[in-house]
Amino acid sequence: MDNIVIFGAPGSGKGTYSAALVKEFGYNRISTGDVLRAEIKAGTKLGKIVKGYIDQGQLIPDEHMIDILAGVYDSMLDGPGVIFDGFPRTIVQAKALKDMLQERGEKITITINLNVSEDVLMERLLRRAKIEGRADDNEETIKKRFKVYYNQTYPLIEWFKNEGVLSEFTFKGDTNLIIKEIIEKVASL
Ligand code: AP5
Ligand code: MG
Repeated sequence: MDNIVIFGAPGSGKGTYSAALVKEFGYNRISTGDVLRAEIKAGTKLGKIVKGYIDQGQLIPDEHMIDILAGVYDSMLDGPGVIFDGFPRTIVQAKALKDMLQERGEKITITINLNVSEDVLMERLLRRAKIEGRADDNEETIKKRFKVYYNQTYPLIEWFKNEGVLSEFTFKGDTNLIIKEIIEKVASL
């Protein structure tokens, strides 16, 4: 089974390219951000806990995320693979992911790191704000999300490198061109 991590800053295209891989290869997808937003919308206990963190652009504590992950993953074991969109985001989460996969005889197949400059990210997220109206898509919270990304998530690149699973992508073209490149990369695995 393929276990593909799509990694990058807010607005780098994790959701966009995950969806393309799902369509092309029939993978299942775990988007932790989508899972959390659904919990908030449904007004669950977890949703109430996480809302404040998301609205402030902060990460949800690792223990909540790790609990969610294994449950969702186990419902996807009969497919050709799983895309992780937005997880892991801390070293603790990365180690938990590695352990969880190992317990099931699996491992990370590849991590696709999306490199996009900060001014382009801001432009995209402000544009998306007008279309989707996500609570954390305003300039002030976006800046906090960038800070959290660089402080807590970016250091994971070294961890992925040490695991031998990192694939760096610096994309310049339009969305369709990038989708084509990522699909080629995954098809060659
Ligand atoms: P999450 O939902 O994961 O948000 P994020 O990381 O901030 O990323 P986004 O979803 O904003 O961007 P994306 O990379 O998916 O880009 P997209 O494809 O939409 O997390 C939200 C929050 O949940 C976190 O802040 C945290 O509080 C919490 N959380 C989630 N996971 C967690 C975890 N593991 N641990 C703890 N807390 C967690 O693209 C952006 C826009 O750009 C779109 O409009 C798209 O159409 C456009 N676009 C994409 N590619 C291109 C291109 N090439 N050219 C032009 N436009 C493009
Ligand atoms: Mg997303």
